[in-house]
Amino acid sequence: MTQRGLIARRKFLQFLAASPLAANTAIASSIATLVAAAPGEAVAQSYDVLRGARRALGPDGIITAPGDALDVFEFEPAAKKAVLSQEAPLGSAPAHWGYLQSGVDGDVTRDANRTAYAGYNIRVKRLVDVRKVDTSVSVFGESWASPIFICPVSSLGAYDPEAGVAVARAAGKRKHQMMLSTVDNANIADVNKAHGTPAWFMLYPTDEWSVTQTLVKRAEDAGSPAIILTVDRQGGRNTETLFRERRLDDRDCAGCHQPGFVNEVSRKTNFAGIDVAKVTNLYGTGMTWEFIDRLRGIVKGKLLLKGIMTGEDAKEALRHGVDGIIVSNHGGRAEESGQATIGVLAEIVDAVGGRVPVLIDGGVRRGTDVLKALALGATAVGIGRPYVWGLAAFGEAGVDRVLEILDAEFTTIMRQVGALNVKQLTRDNVTRA
Ligand SMILES: Cc1cc2nc3c(=O)[nH]c(=O)nc-3n(C[C@H](O)[C@H](O)[C@H](O)COP(=O)(O)O)c2cc1C
Repeated sequence: MTQRGLIARRKFLQFLAASPLAANTAIASSIATLVAAAPGEAVAQSYDVLRGARRALGPDGIITAPGDALDVFEFEPAAKKAVLSQEAPLGSAPAHWGYLQSGVDGDVTRDANRTAYAGYNIRVKRLVDVRKVDTSVSVFGESWASPIFICPVSSLGAYDPEAGVAVARAAGKRKHQMMLSTVDNANIADVNKAHGTPAWFMLYPTDEWSVTQTLVKRAEDAGSPAIILTVDRQGGRNTETLFRERRLDDRDCAGCHQPGFVNEVSRKTNFAGIDVAKVTNLYGTGMTWEFIDRLRGIVKGKLLLKGIMTGEDAKEALRHGVDGIIVSNHGGRAEESGQATIGVLAEIVDAVGGRVPVLIDGGVRRGTDVLKALALGATAVGIGRPYVWGLAAFGEAGVDRVLEILDAEFTTIMRQVGALNVKQLTRDNVTRA
């Protein structure tokens, strides 16, 4: 089936799922109804669920429509099922599933990102009128409806034929900011158009300066106001979970994944028309702080570093004129340090001292995680795998529902801590568990 055919089929399935014709989707899901009742109005209560029709899962215990999901975790098995049952040209793709899920070595850091959130508890506050809560944040003068942003994830085409464009439409409609990876299958101009306002561009500069320059210029010409340099992939990595899943994949992977940089980026349209003959490496480029100075010299808008994990590096970044820090370990896909991002957030926020925004990602799966990170000083909080689960399972509608769930959870916990807006969140809202 062609890419267009795949999109048409998915849209048709989504239409069916939303239609009253579908026996198990006679009404919008009760949880969605609950969420819809919430913004700015009287706060929905859990008994509202009982007024909706019963929502059965599929025979395998997996959700069959995005509106059925009660939390973002329910998208994970749905995504796995979708990736393993794709039609041609991708076909059943255990290796693609492994790529998404993988951390490095034993996935200890990936899992630590998640579990470390349990190391913080939330301090609630009673008797505040919280019927109207404003979840918006301002970052570099941009107004985002929610502090939750979409992290750059490469090769989204493995999960949806429209790749970053489908994500951009979903995020843009909800006014969430997104960052596009250099090595997504969609290009920055198309993504910016689909998003409605320009996305931020995440840069893998390569080891060829003229290529770096062109990538930056293209993003800026497309309107992107911020360039994010990812600095955590220089050391190489052992994505063992991917390699394990590869054992189960009986497709001819080499048919697409030919050796050599030209082949590596042949489906990555941000490189279209760029002479990459001299590029030898996307990641192991030998970057040092001098490279940051050089890049600073050509980036006209904001420059952020993604992958900072210590206060020392954050201070050094400021000395080199960086406009923002993203506390990240690549979702546990860079180093197997065992160090969760939330565990170093306060150290980095203190080192930065309010001079530039500090963003964070890694292991964020609940609105309560978002609140904890904001309370510890983050300006905004990113999600990676959860939106890709939504994308793989249900395309744009899945991404939309992931964001809807996280926004609803976040709004609810804002109310419970008596915060009427994000600026009111402080370290007093959390305590060590
Ligand atoms: C499949 C996959 C591909 C990724 N590709 C990139 C990338 O191209 N550039 C980048 O800076 N980060 C990349 N990341 C890291 C994410 O931007 C983000 O830091 C991470 O996913 C957050 O953790 P979470 O998945 O637990 O939410 C990738 C993550 C995943 C899961």
